[in-house]
This record gives sequence, C-alpha cells and structure tokens, in this order.
Amino acid sequence: ASAVNAFAPASNARVSTSLNMSGVERNPNFAKLAGGYLFPEIARRRNAYLAENPDMADRIISLGIGDTTKPIPEHILSGLVNGASKLGTQEGYSGYGAEQGMGDLRQKIATVLYDDLISADEVFVSDGAKCDIMRVQQMFGPGVISAVQDPSYPVYVDTSVMMGQTGEINTETSQYDNIVYMPCTAENNFFPDYASLPRADVVYFCSPNNPTGAAATRDQLTELVKTCKERGSILVFDAAYAPFIRDPDVPKSIFEIEGAKEVAIECNSFSKYAGFTGVRLGWTVVPDGLTFADGTPVRNDFNRVMTTAFNGASNIVQAGGLACLDPEGQAEINALIDYYLGNAKMLKDAMEEIGFNVFGGDNAPYVFVQLPEGKKSWDMFSEILEKAQVVTIPGAGFGPGGEGYLRLSAFAPRDSVIEACDRLKKAMV
Ligand code: MLT
Repeated sequence: ASAVNAFAPASNARVSTSLNMSGVERNPNFAKLAGGYLFPEIARRRNAYLAENPDMADRIISLGIGDTTKPIPEHILSGLVNGASKLGTQEGYSGYGAEQGMGDLRQKIATVLYDDLISADEVFVSDGAKCDIMRVQQMFGPGVISAVQDPSYPVYVDTSVMMGQTGEINTETSQYDNIVYMPCTAENNFFPDYASLPRADVVYFCSPNNPTGAAATRDQLTELVKTCKERGSILVFDAAYAPFIRDPDVPKSIFEIEGAKEVAIECNSFSKYAGFTGVRLGWTVVPDGLTFADGTPVRNDFNRVMTTAFNGASNIVQAGGLACLDPEGQAEINALIDYYLGNAKMLKDAMEEIGFNVFGGDNAPYVFVQLPEGKKSWDMFSEILEKAQVVTIPGAGFGPGGEGYLRLSAFAPRDSVIEACDRLKKAMV
C-alpha cells in the first residue's frame, strides 16, 4: 500500500501484469479506495525525498504521524515486565483470556477513567482504537450511512469504503457518495452542524479532534447527543486524545453527557496516554441500553464480533494497562502528557510568530495551521520538507475539508521540536 499515490485514482494495472493471477475477483470496495492509507503515503514521500537527497537523512524531523517518542515510564513498564515474567511461572501462567479483557482491567477502566459512569461489563478491551473502529464497522455492515467530521482521522472513511457502505469517490469534490461529510473549519469553530445535514445511521466524532485539535465543549456535545437521539443515529465517539484535555469544563468522555448511554459507543486507547502505540492496548465502551432498531442490544453484536474475530488483548499488555491505572501510573501519564503539551505550545507559538492562524494544541497534541489563501496543503507539505526537512501532514490528507491547513504533531522529542520551530521560522517567513 505504501507504494500507492494516495491521490491518484486506484488502478488495477499492477494486478493485470502479474504472472500469478488468481481466479478470485477483487473486492470491488477496495477498488473504490482513492489510494494508499495516508500515513504510509507520507512515509513514501519522505523516502522519495531522501532518495534524491541522501545527505539530508540525519536532518529529517518528523512532526507527521502522531507517534509517541518518550520511553514508557517506570511504574507502567514494571506492569508490562511483571506481566511477562508471570508467564514463566506455573502459578502465573495464563493462556487464552476472556475475549472482552481481564475482569480487573475492565473494572479499573470503568472506575478510574469513567468514575463508574459506566460498568465493567460495558468495557471491551482490545488492541487499539483503530482496530476497534473496523470492528464497529463489521458490526454495522454495508447497509448503513456514516457521517464523518471533515477533516477527520482517515480510518472512519476508509473503513466505510472497505465495508461497502459508500459509492465511488467524486473526483471533483474528493468525497465518497453515501457518506455525510460534516464540515469542520475555522468558520464554525471546527464543530459541525449535524442537525442541518442529511441524517446518517452512524456518526463518527473525535474529540479532542484529530487533526484539528479542537476539543468539543459540554454544550456542543449535549447538542450532538440530542440530535443523534432525535434522529436515531448511533454516535461513535473517539476519545483517544482525552487525557490531553486540560480545560476542566471540557468533557473527557461522551458518557459525561446526559443521555449519551442511549446513543453512543466510545472507542479509546492507551496509545497516546502511555506511549503504547507499539504496545497496543485500547478499549471500546458499548452501553447496555443502546439498541438497534429491532431492539437487539448493540453490545450483544459487538460481543459477537469480539468473541468470533478476536482472542482478547495480550495478557502481558493488559498487565501494563492495569499499571497505567494505578495512582503512580496516572501520575506518570500526566507527566508524559504535560511534556507533549509543552511541545504543542512551542509549535503553536512558533507558527503564530510566523504569522499563521493556528488552532488546536491546547487540549490536544495536534496543532492545526491555516495556510494563506489559495495555498494547497500538499504543496506546503513538499515546500517545508524541501526547505526545512520537517515532515508535516497536509490537511487535505484528512479529507477535502482539511485543504488549506497543515497538521503538526507534538509527539516529537523536545530538542527536535525546538530545532523544527527554528527551521520553520527561517524557512517560512
Ligand atoms: C495520527 O497521526 O493521526 C495518528 O497517530 C494515527 C493513528 O493513531 O493511527
């Protein structure tokens, strides 16, 4: 996939030249995908630049993919290490676990992170929020219409296409038929007016948002929950960046909103909390009271997906998850988040100093930069790579609504952020 240009039309050319063609028809939904997944495409362009400029290899700084760089702190690491060590003893050994996750981890997530607003049996532990989004899609199947924030994390749209929920991409608008795109730009403070748009069965909503960095307020989320309830939509709330919320008035979970348990599922992750992007641990909350139109509890079907197509998260990793939720683990997580938010502030200040309008970065690890009128985000991406050897992400990679913006990730090491700010100031003024 990494060799495919994300913005070239999907092509079967490579398949037809193969000498080993099978007799299996390609899934036509995959042919609808406009190209490779965004982040491998960014890596491909960076590698292409380096192939032409090999002497720049040591200068590259990545403010691209939101991948954590700080080591896992001591207490959390000891949870992982102890989880592994136990497997070497007869008494500590465990084989298959519950597909829904260890009971004590489910309980601790409910208590420590949700203040018991939800119960342990509503929590499904997994290998990450991205994987859970695909599982949620498998549960909904091809017959639903999905709505996404535009711009948004590309997984919502791409998995909708893979599932067969959409038509073809419209090359003029860069939008797929049968997806409701909910514009989120500076003009509407990055919060969509879902009530004024066509109804969707499933509404994907991420707060704090990737890529815009906007954190929805209590009033905004109350409005969204109300509209979903009135329209009979299910809200899939992606809270993977919740620990970055520093404003005490901004909800960290959709379940802080009254009535949310009747309309919402929440996907979440330890990736950005605790440096677990490579470790892999997440969870999804599916409330008891949420049902499909025929009265079947959504939780039953999600449980069916998990028990059929997943064998539970690694027992070692779940031991690390338990350590994250100890008071010591929580303190370590807060220190990690403070560090990344410090980076975000530096990036934000630097971009403002250059003269851009800058959004996000206060309650989120992403800084969203508005480019001068008429400037295309992929052009700016290339310009910055060439002039400053800094990798960013063009807003258009997150959907047509992201055109005219650039996303900077605050997950780089501090010295790289300082150096990147310096180079950007020199290259962009
Ligand atoms: C991003 O850069 O948007 C995310 O890190 C990607 C991900 O979490 O899958």
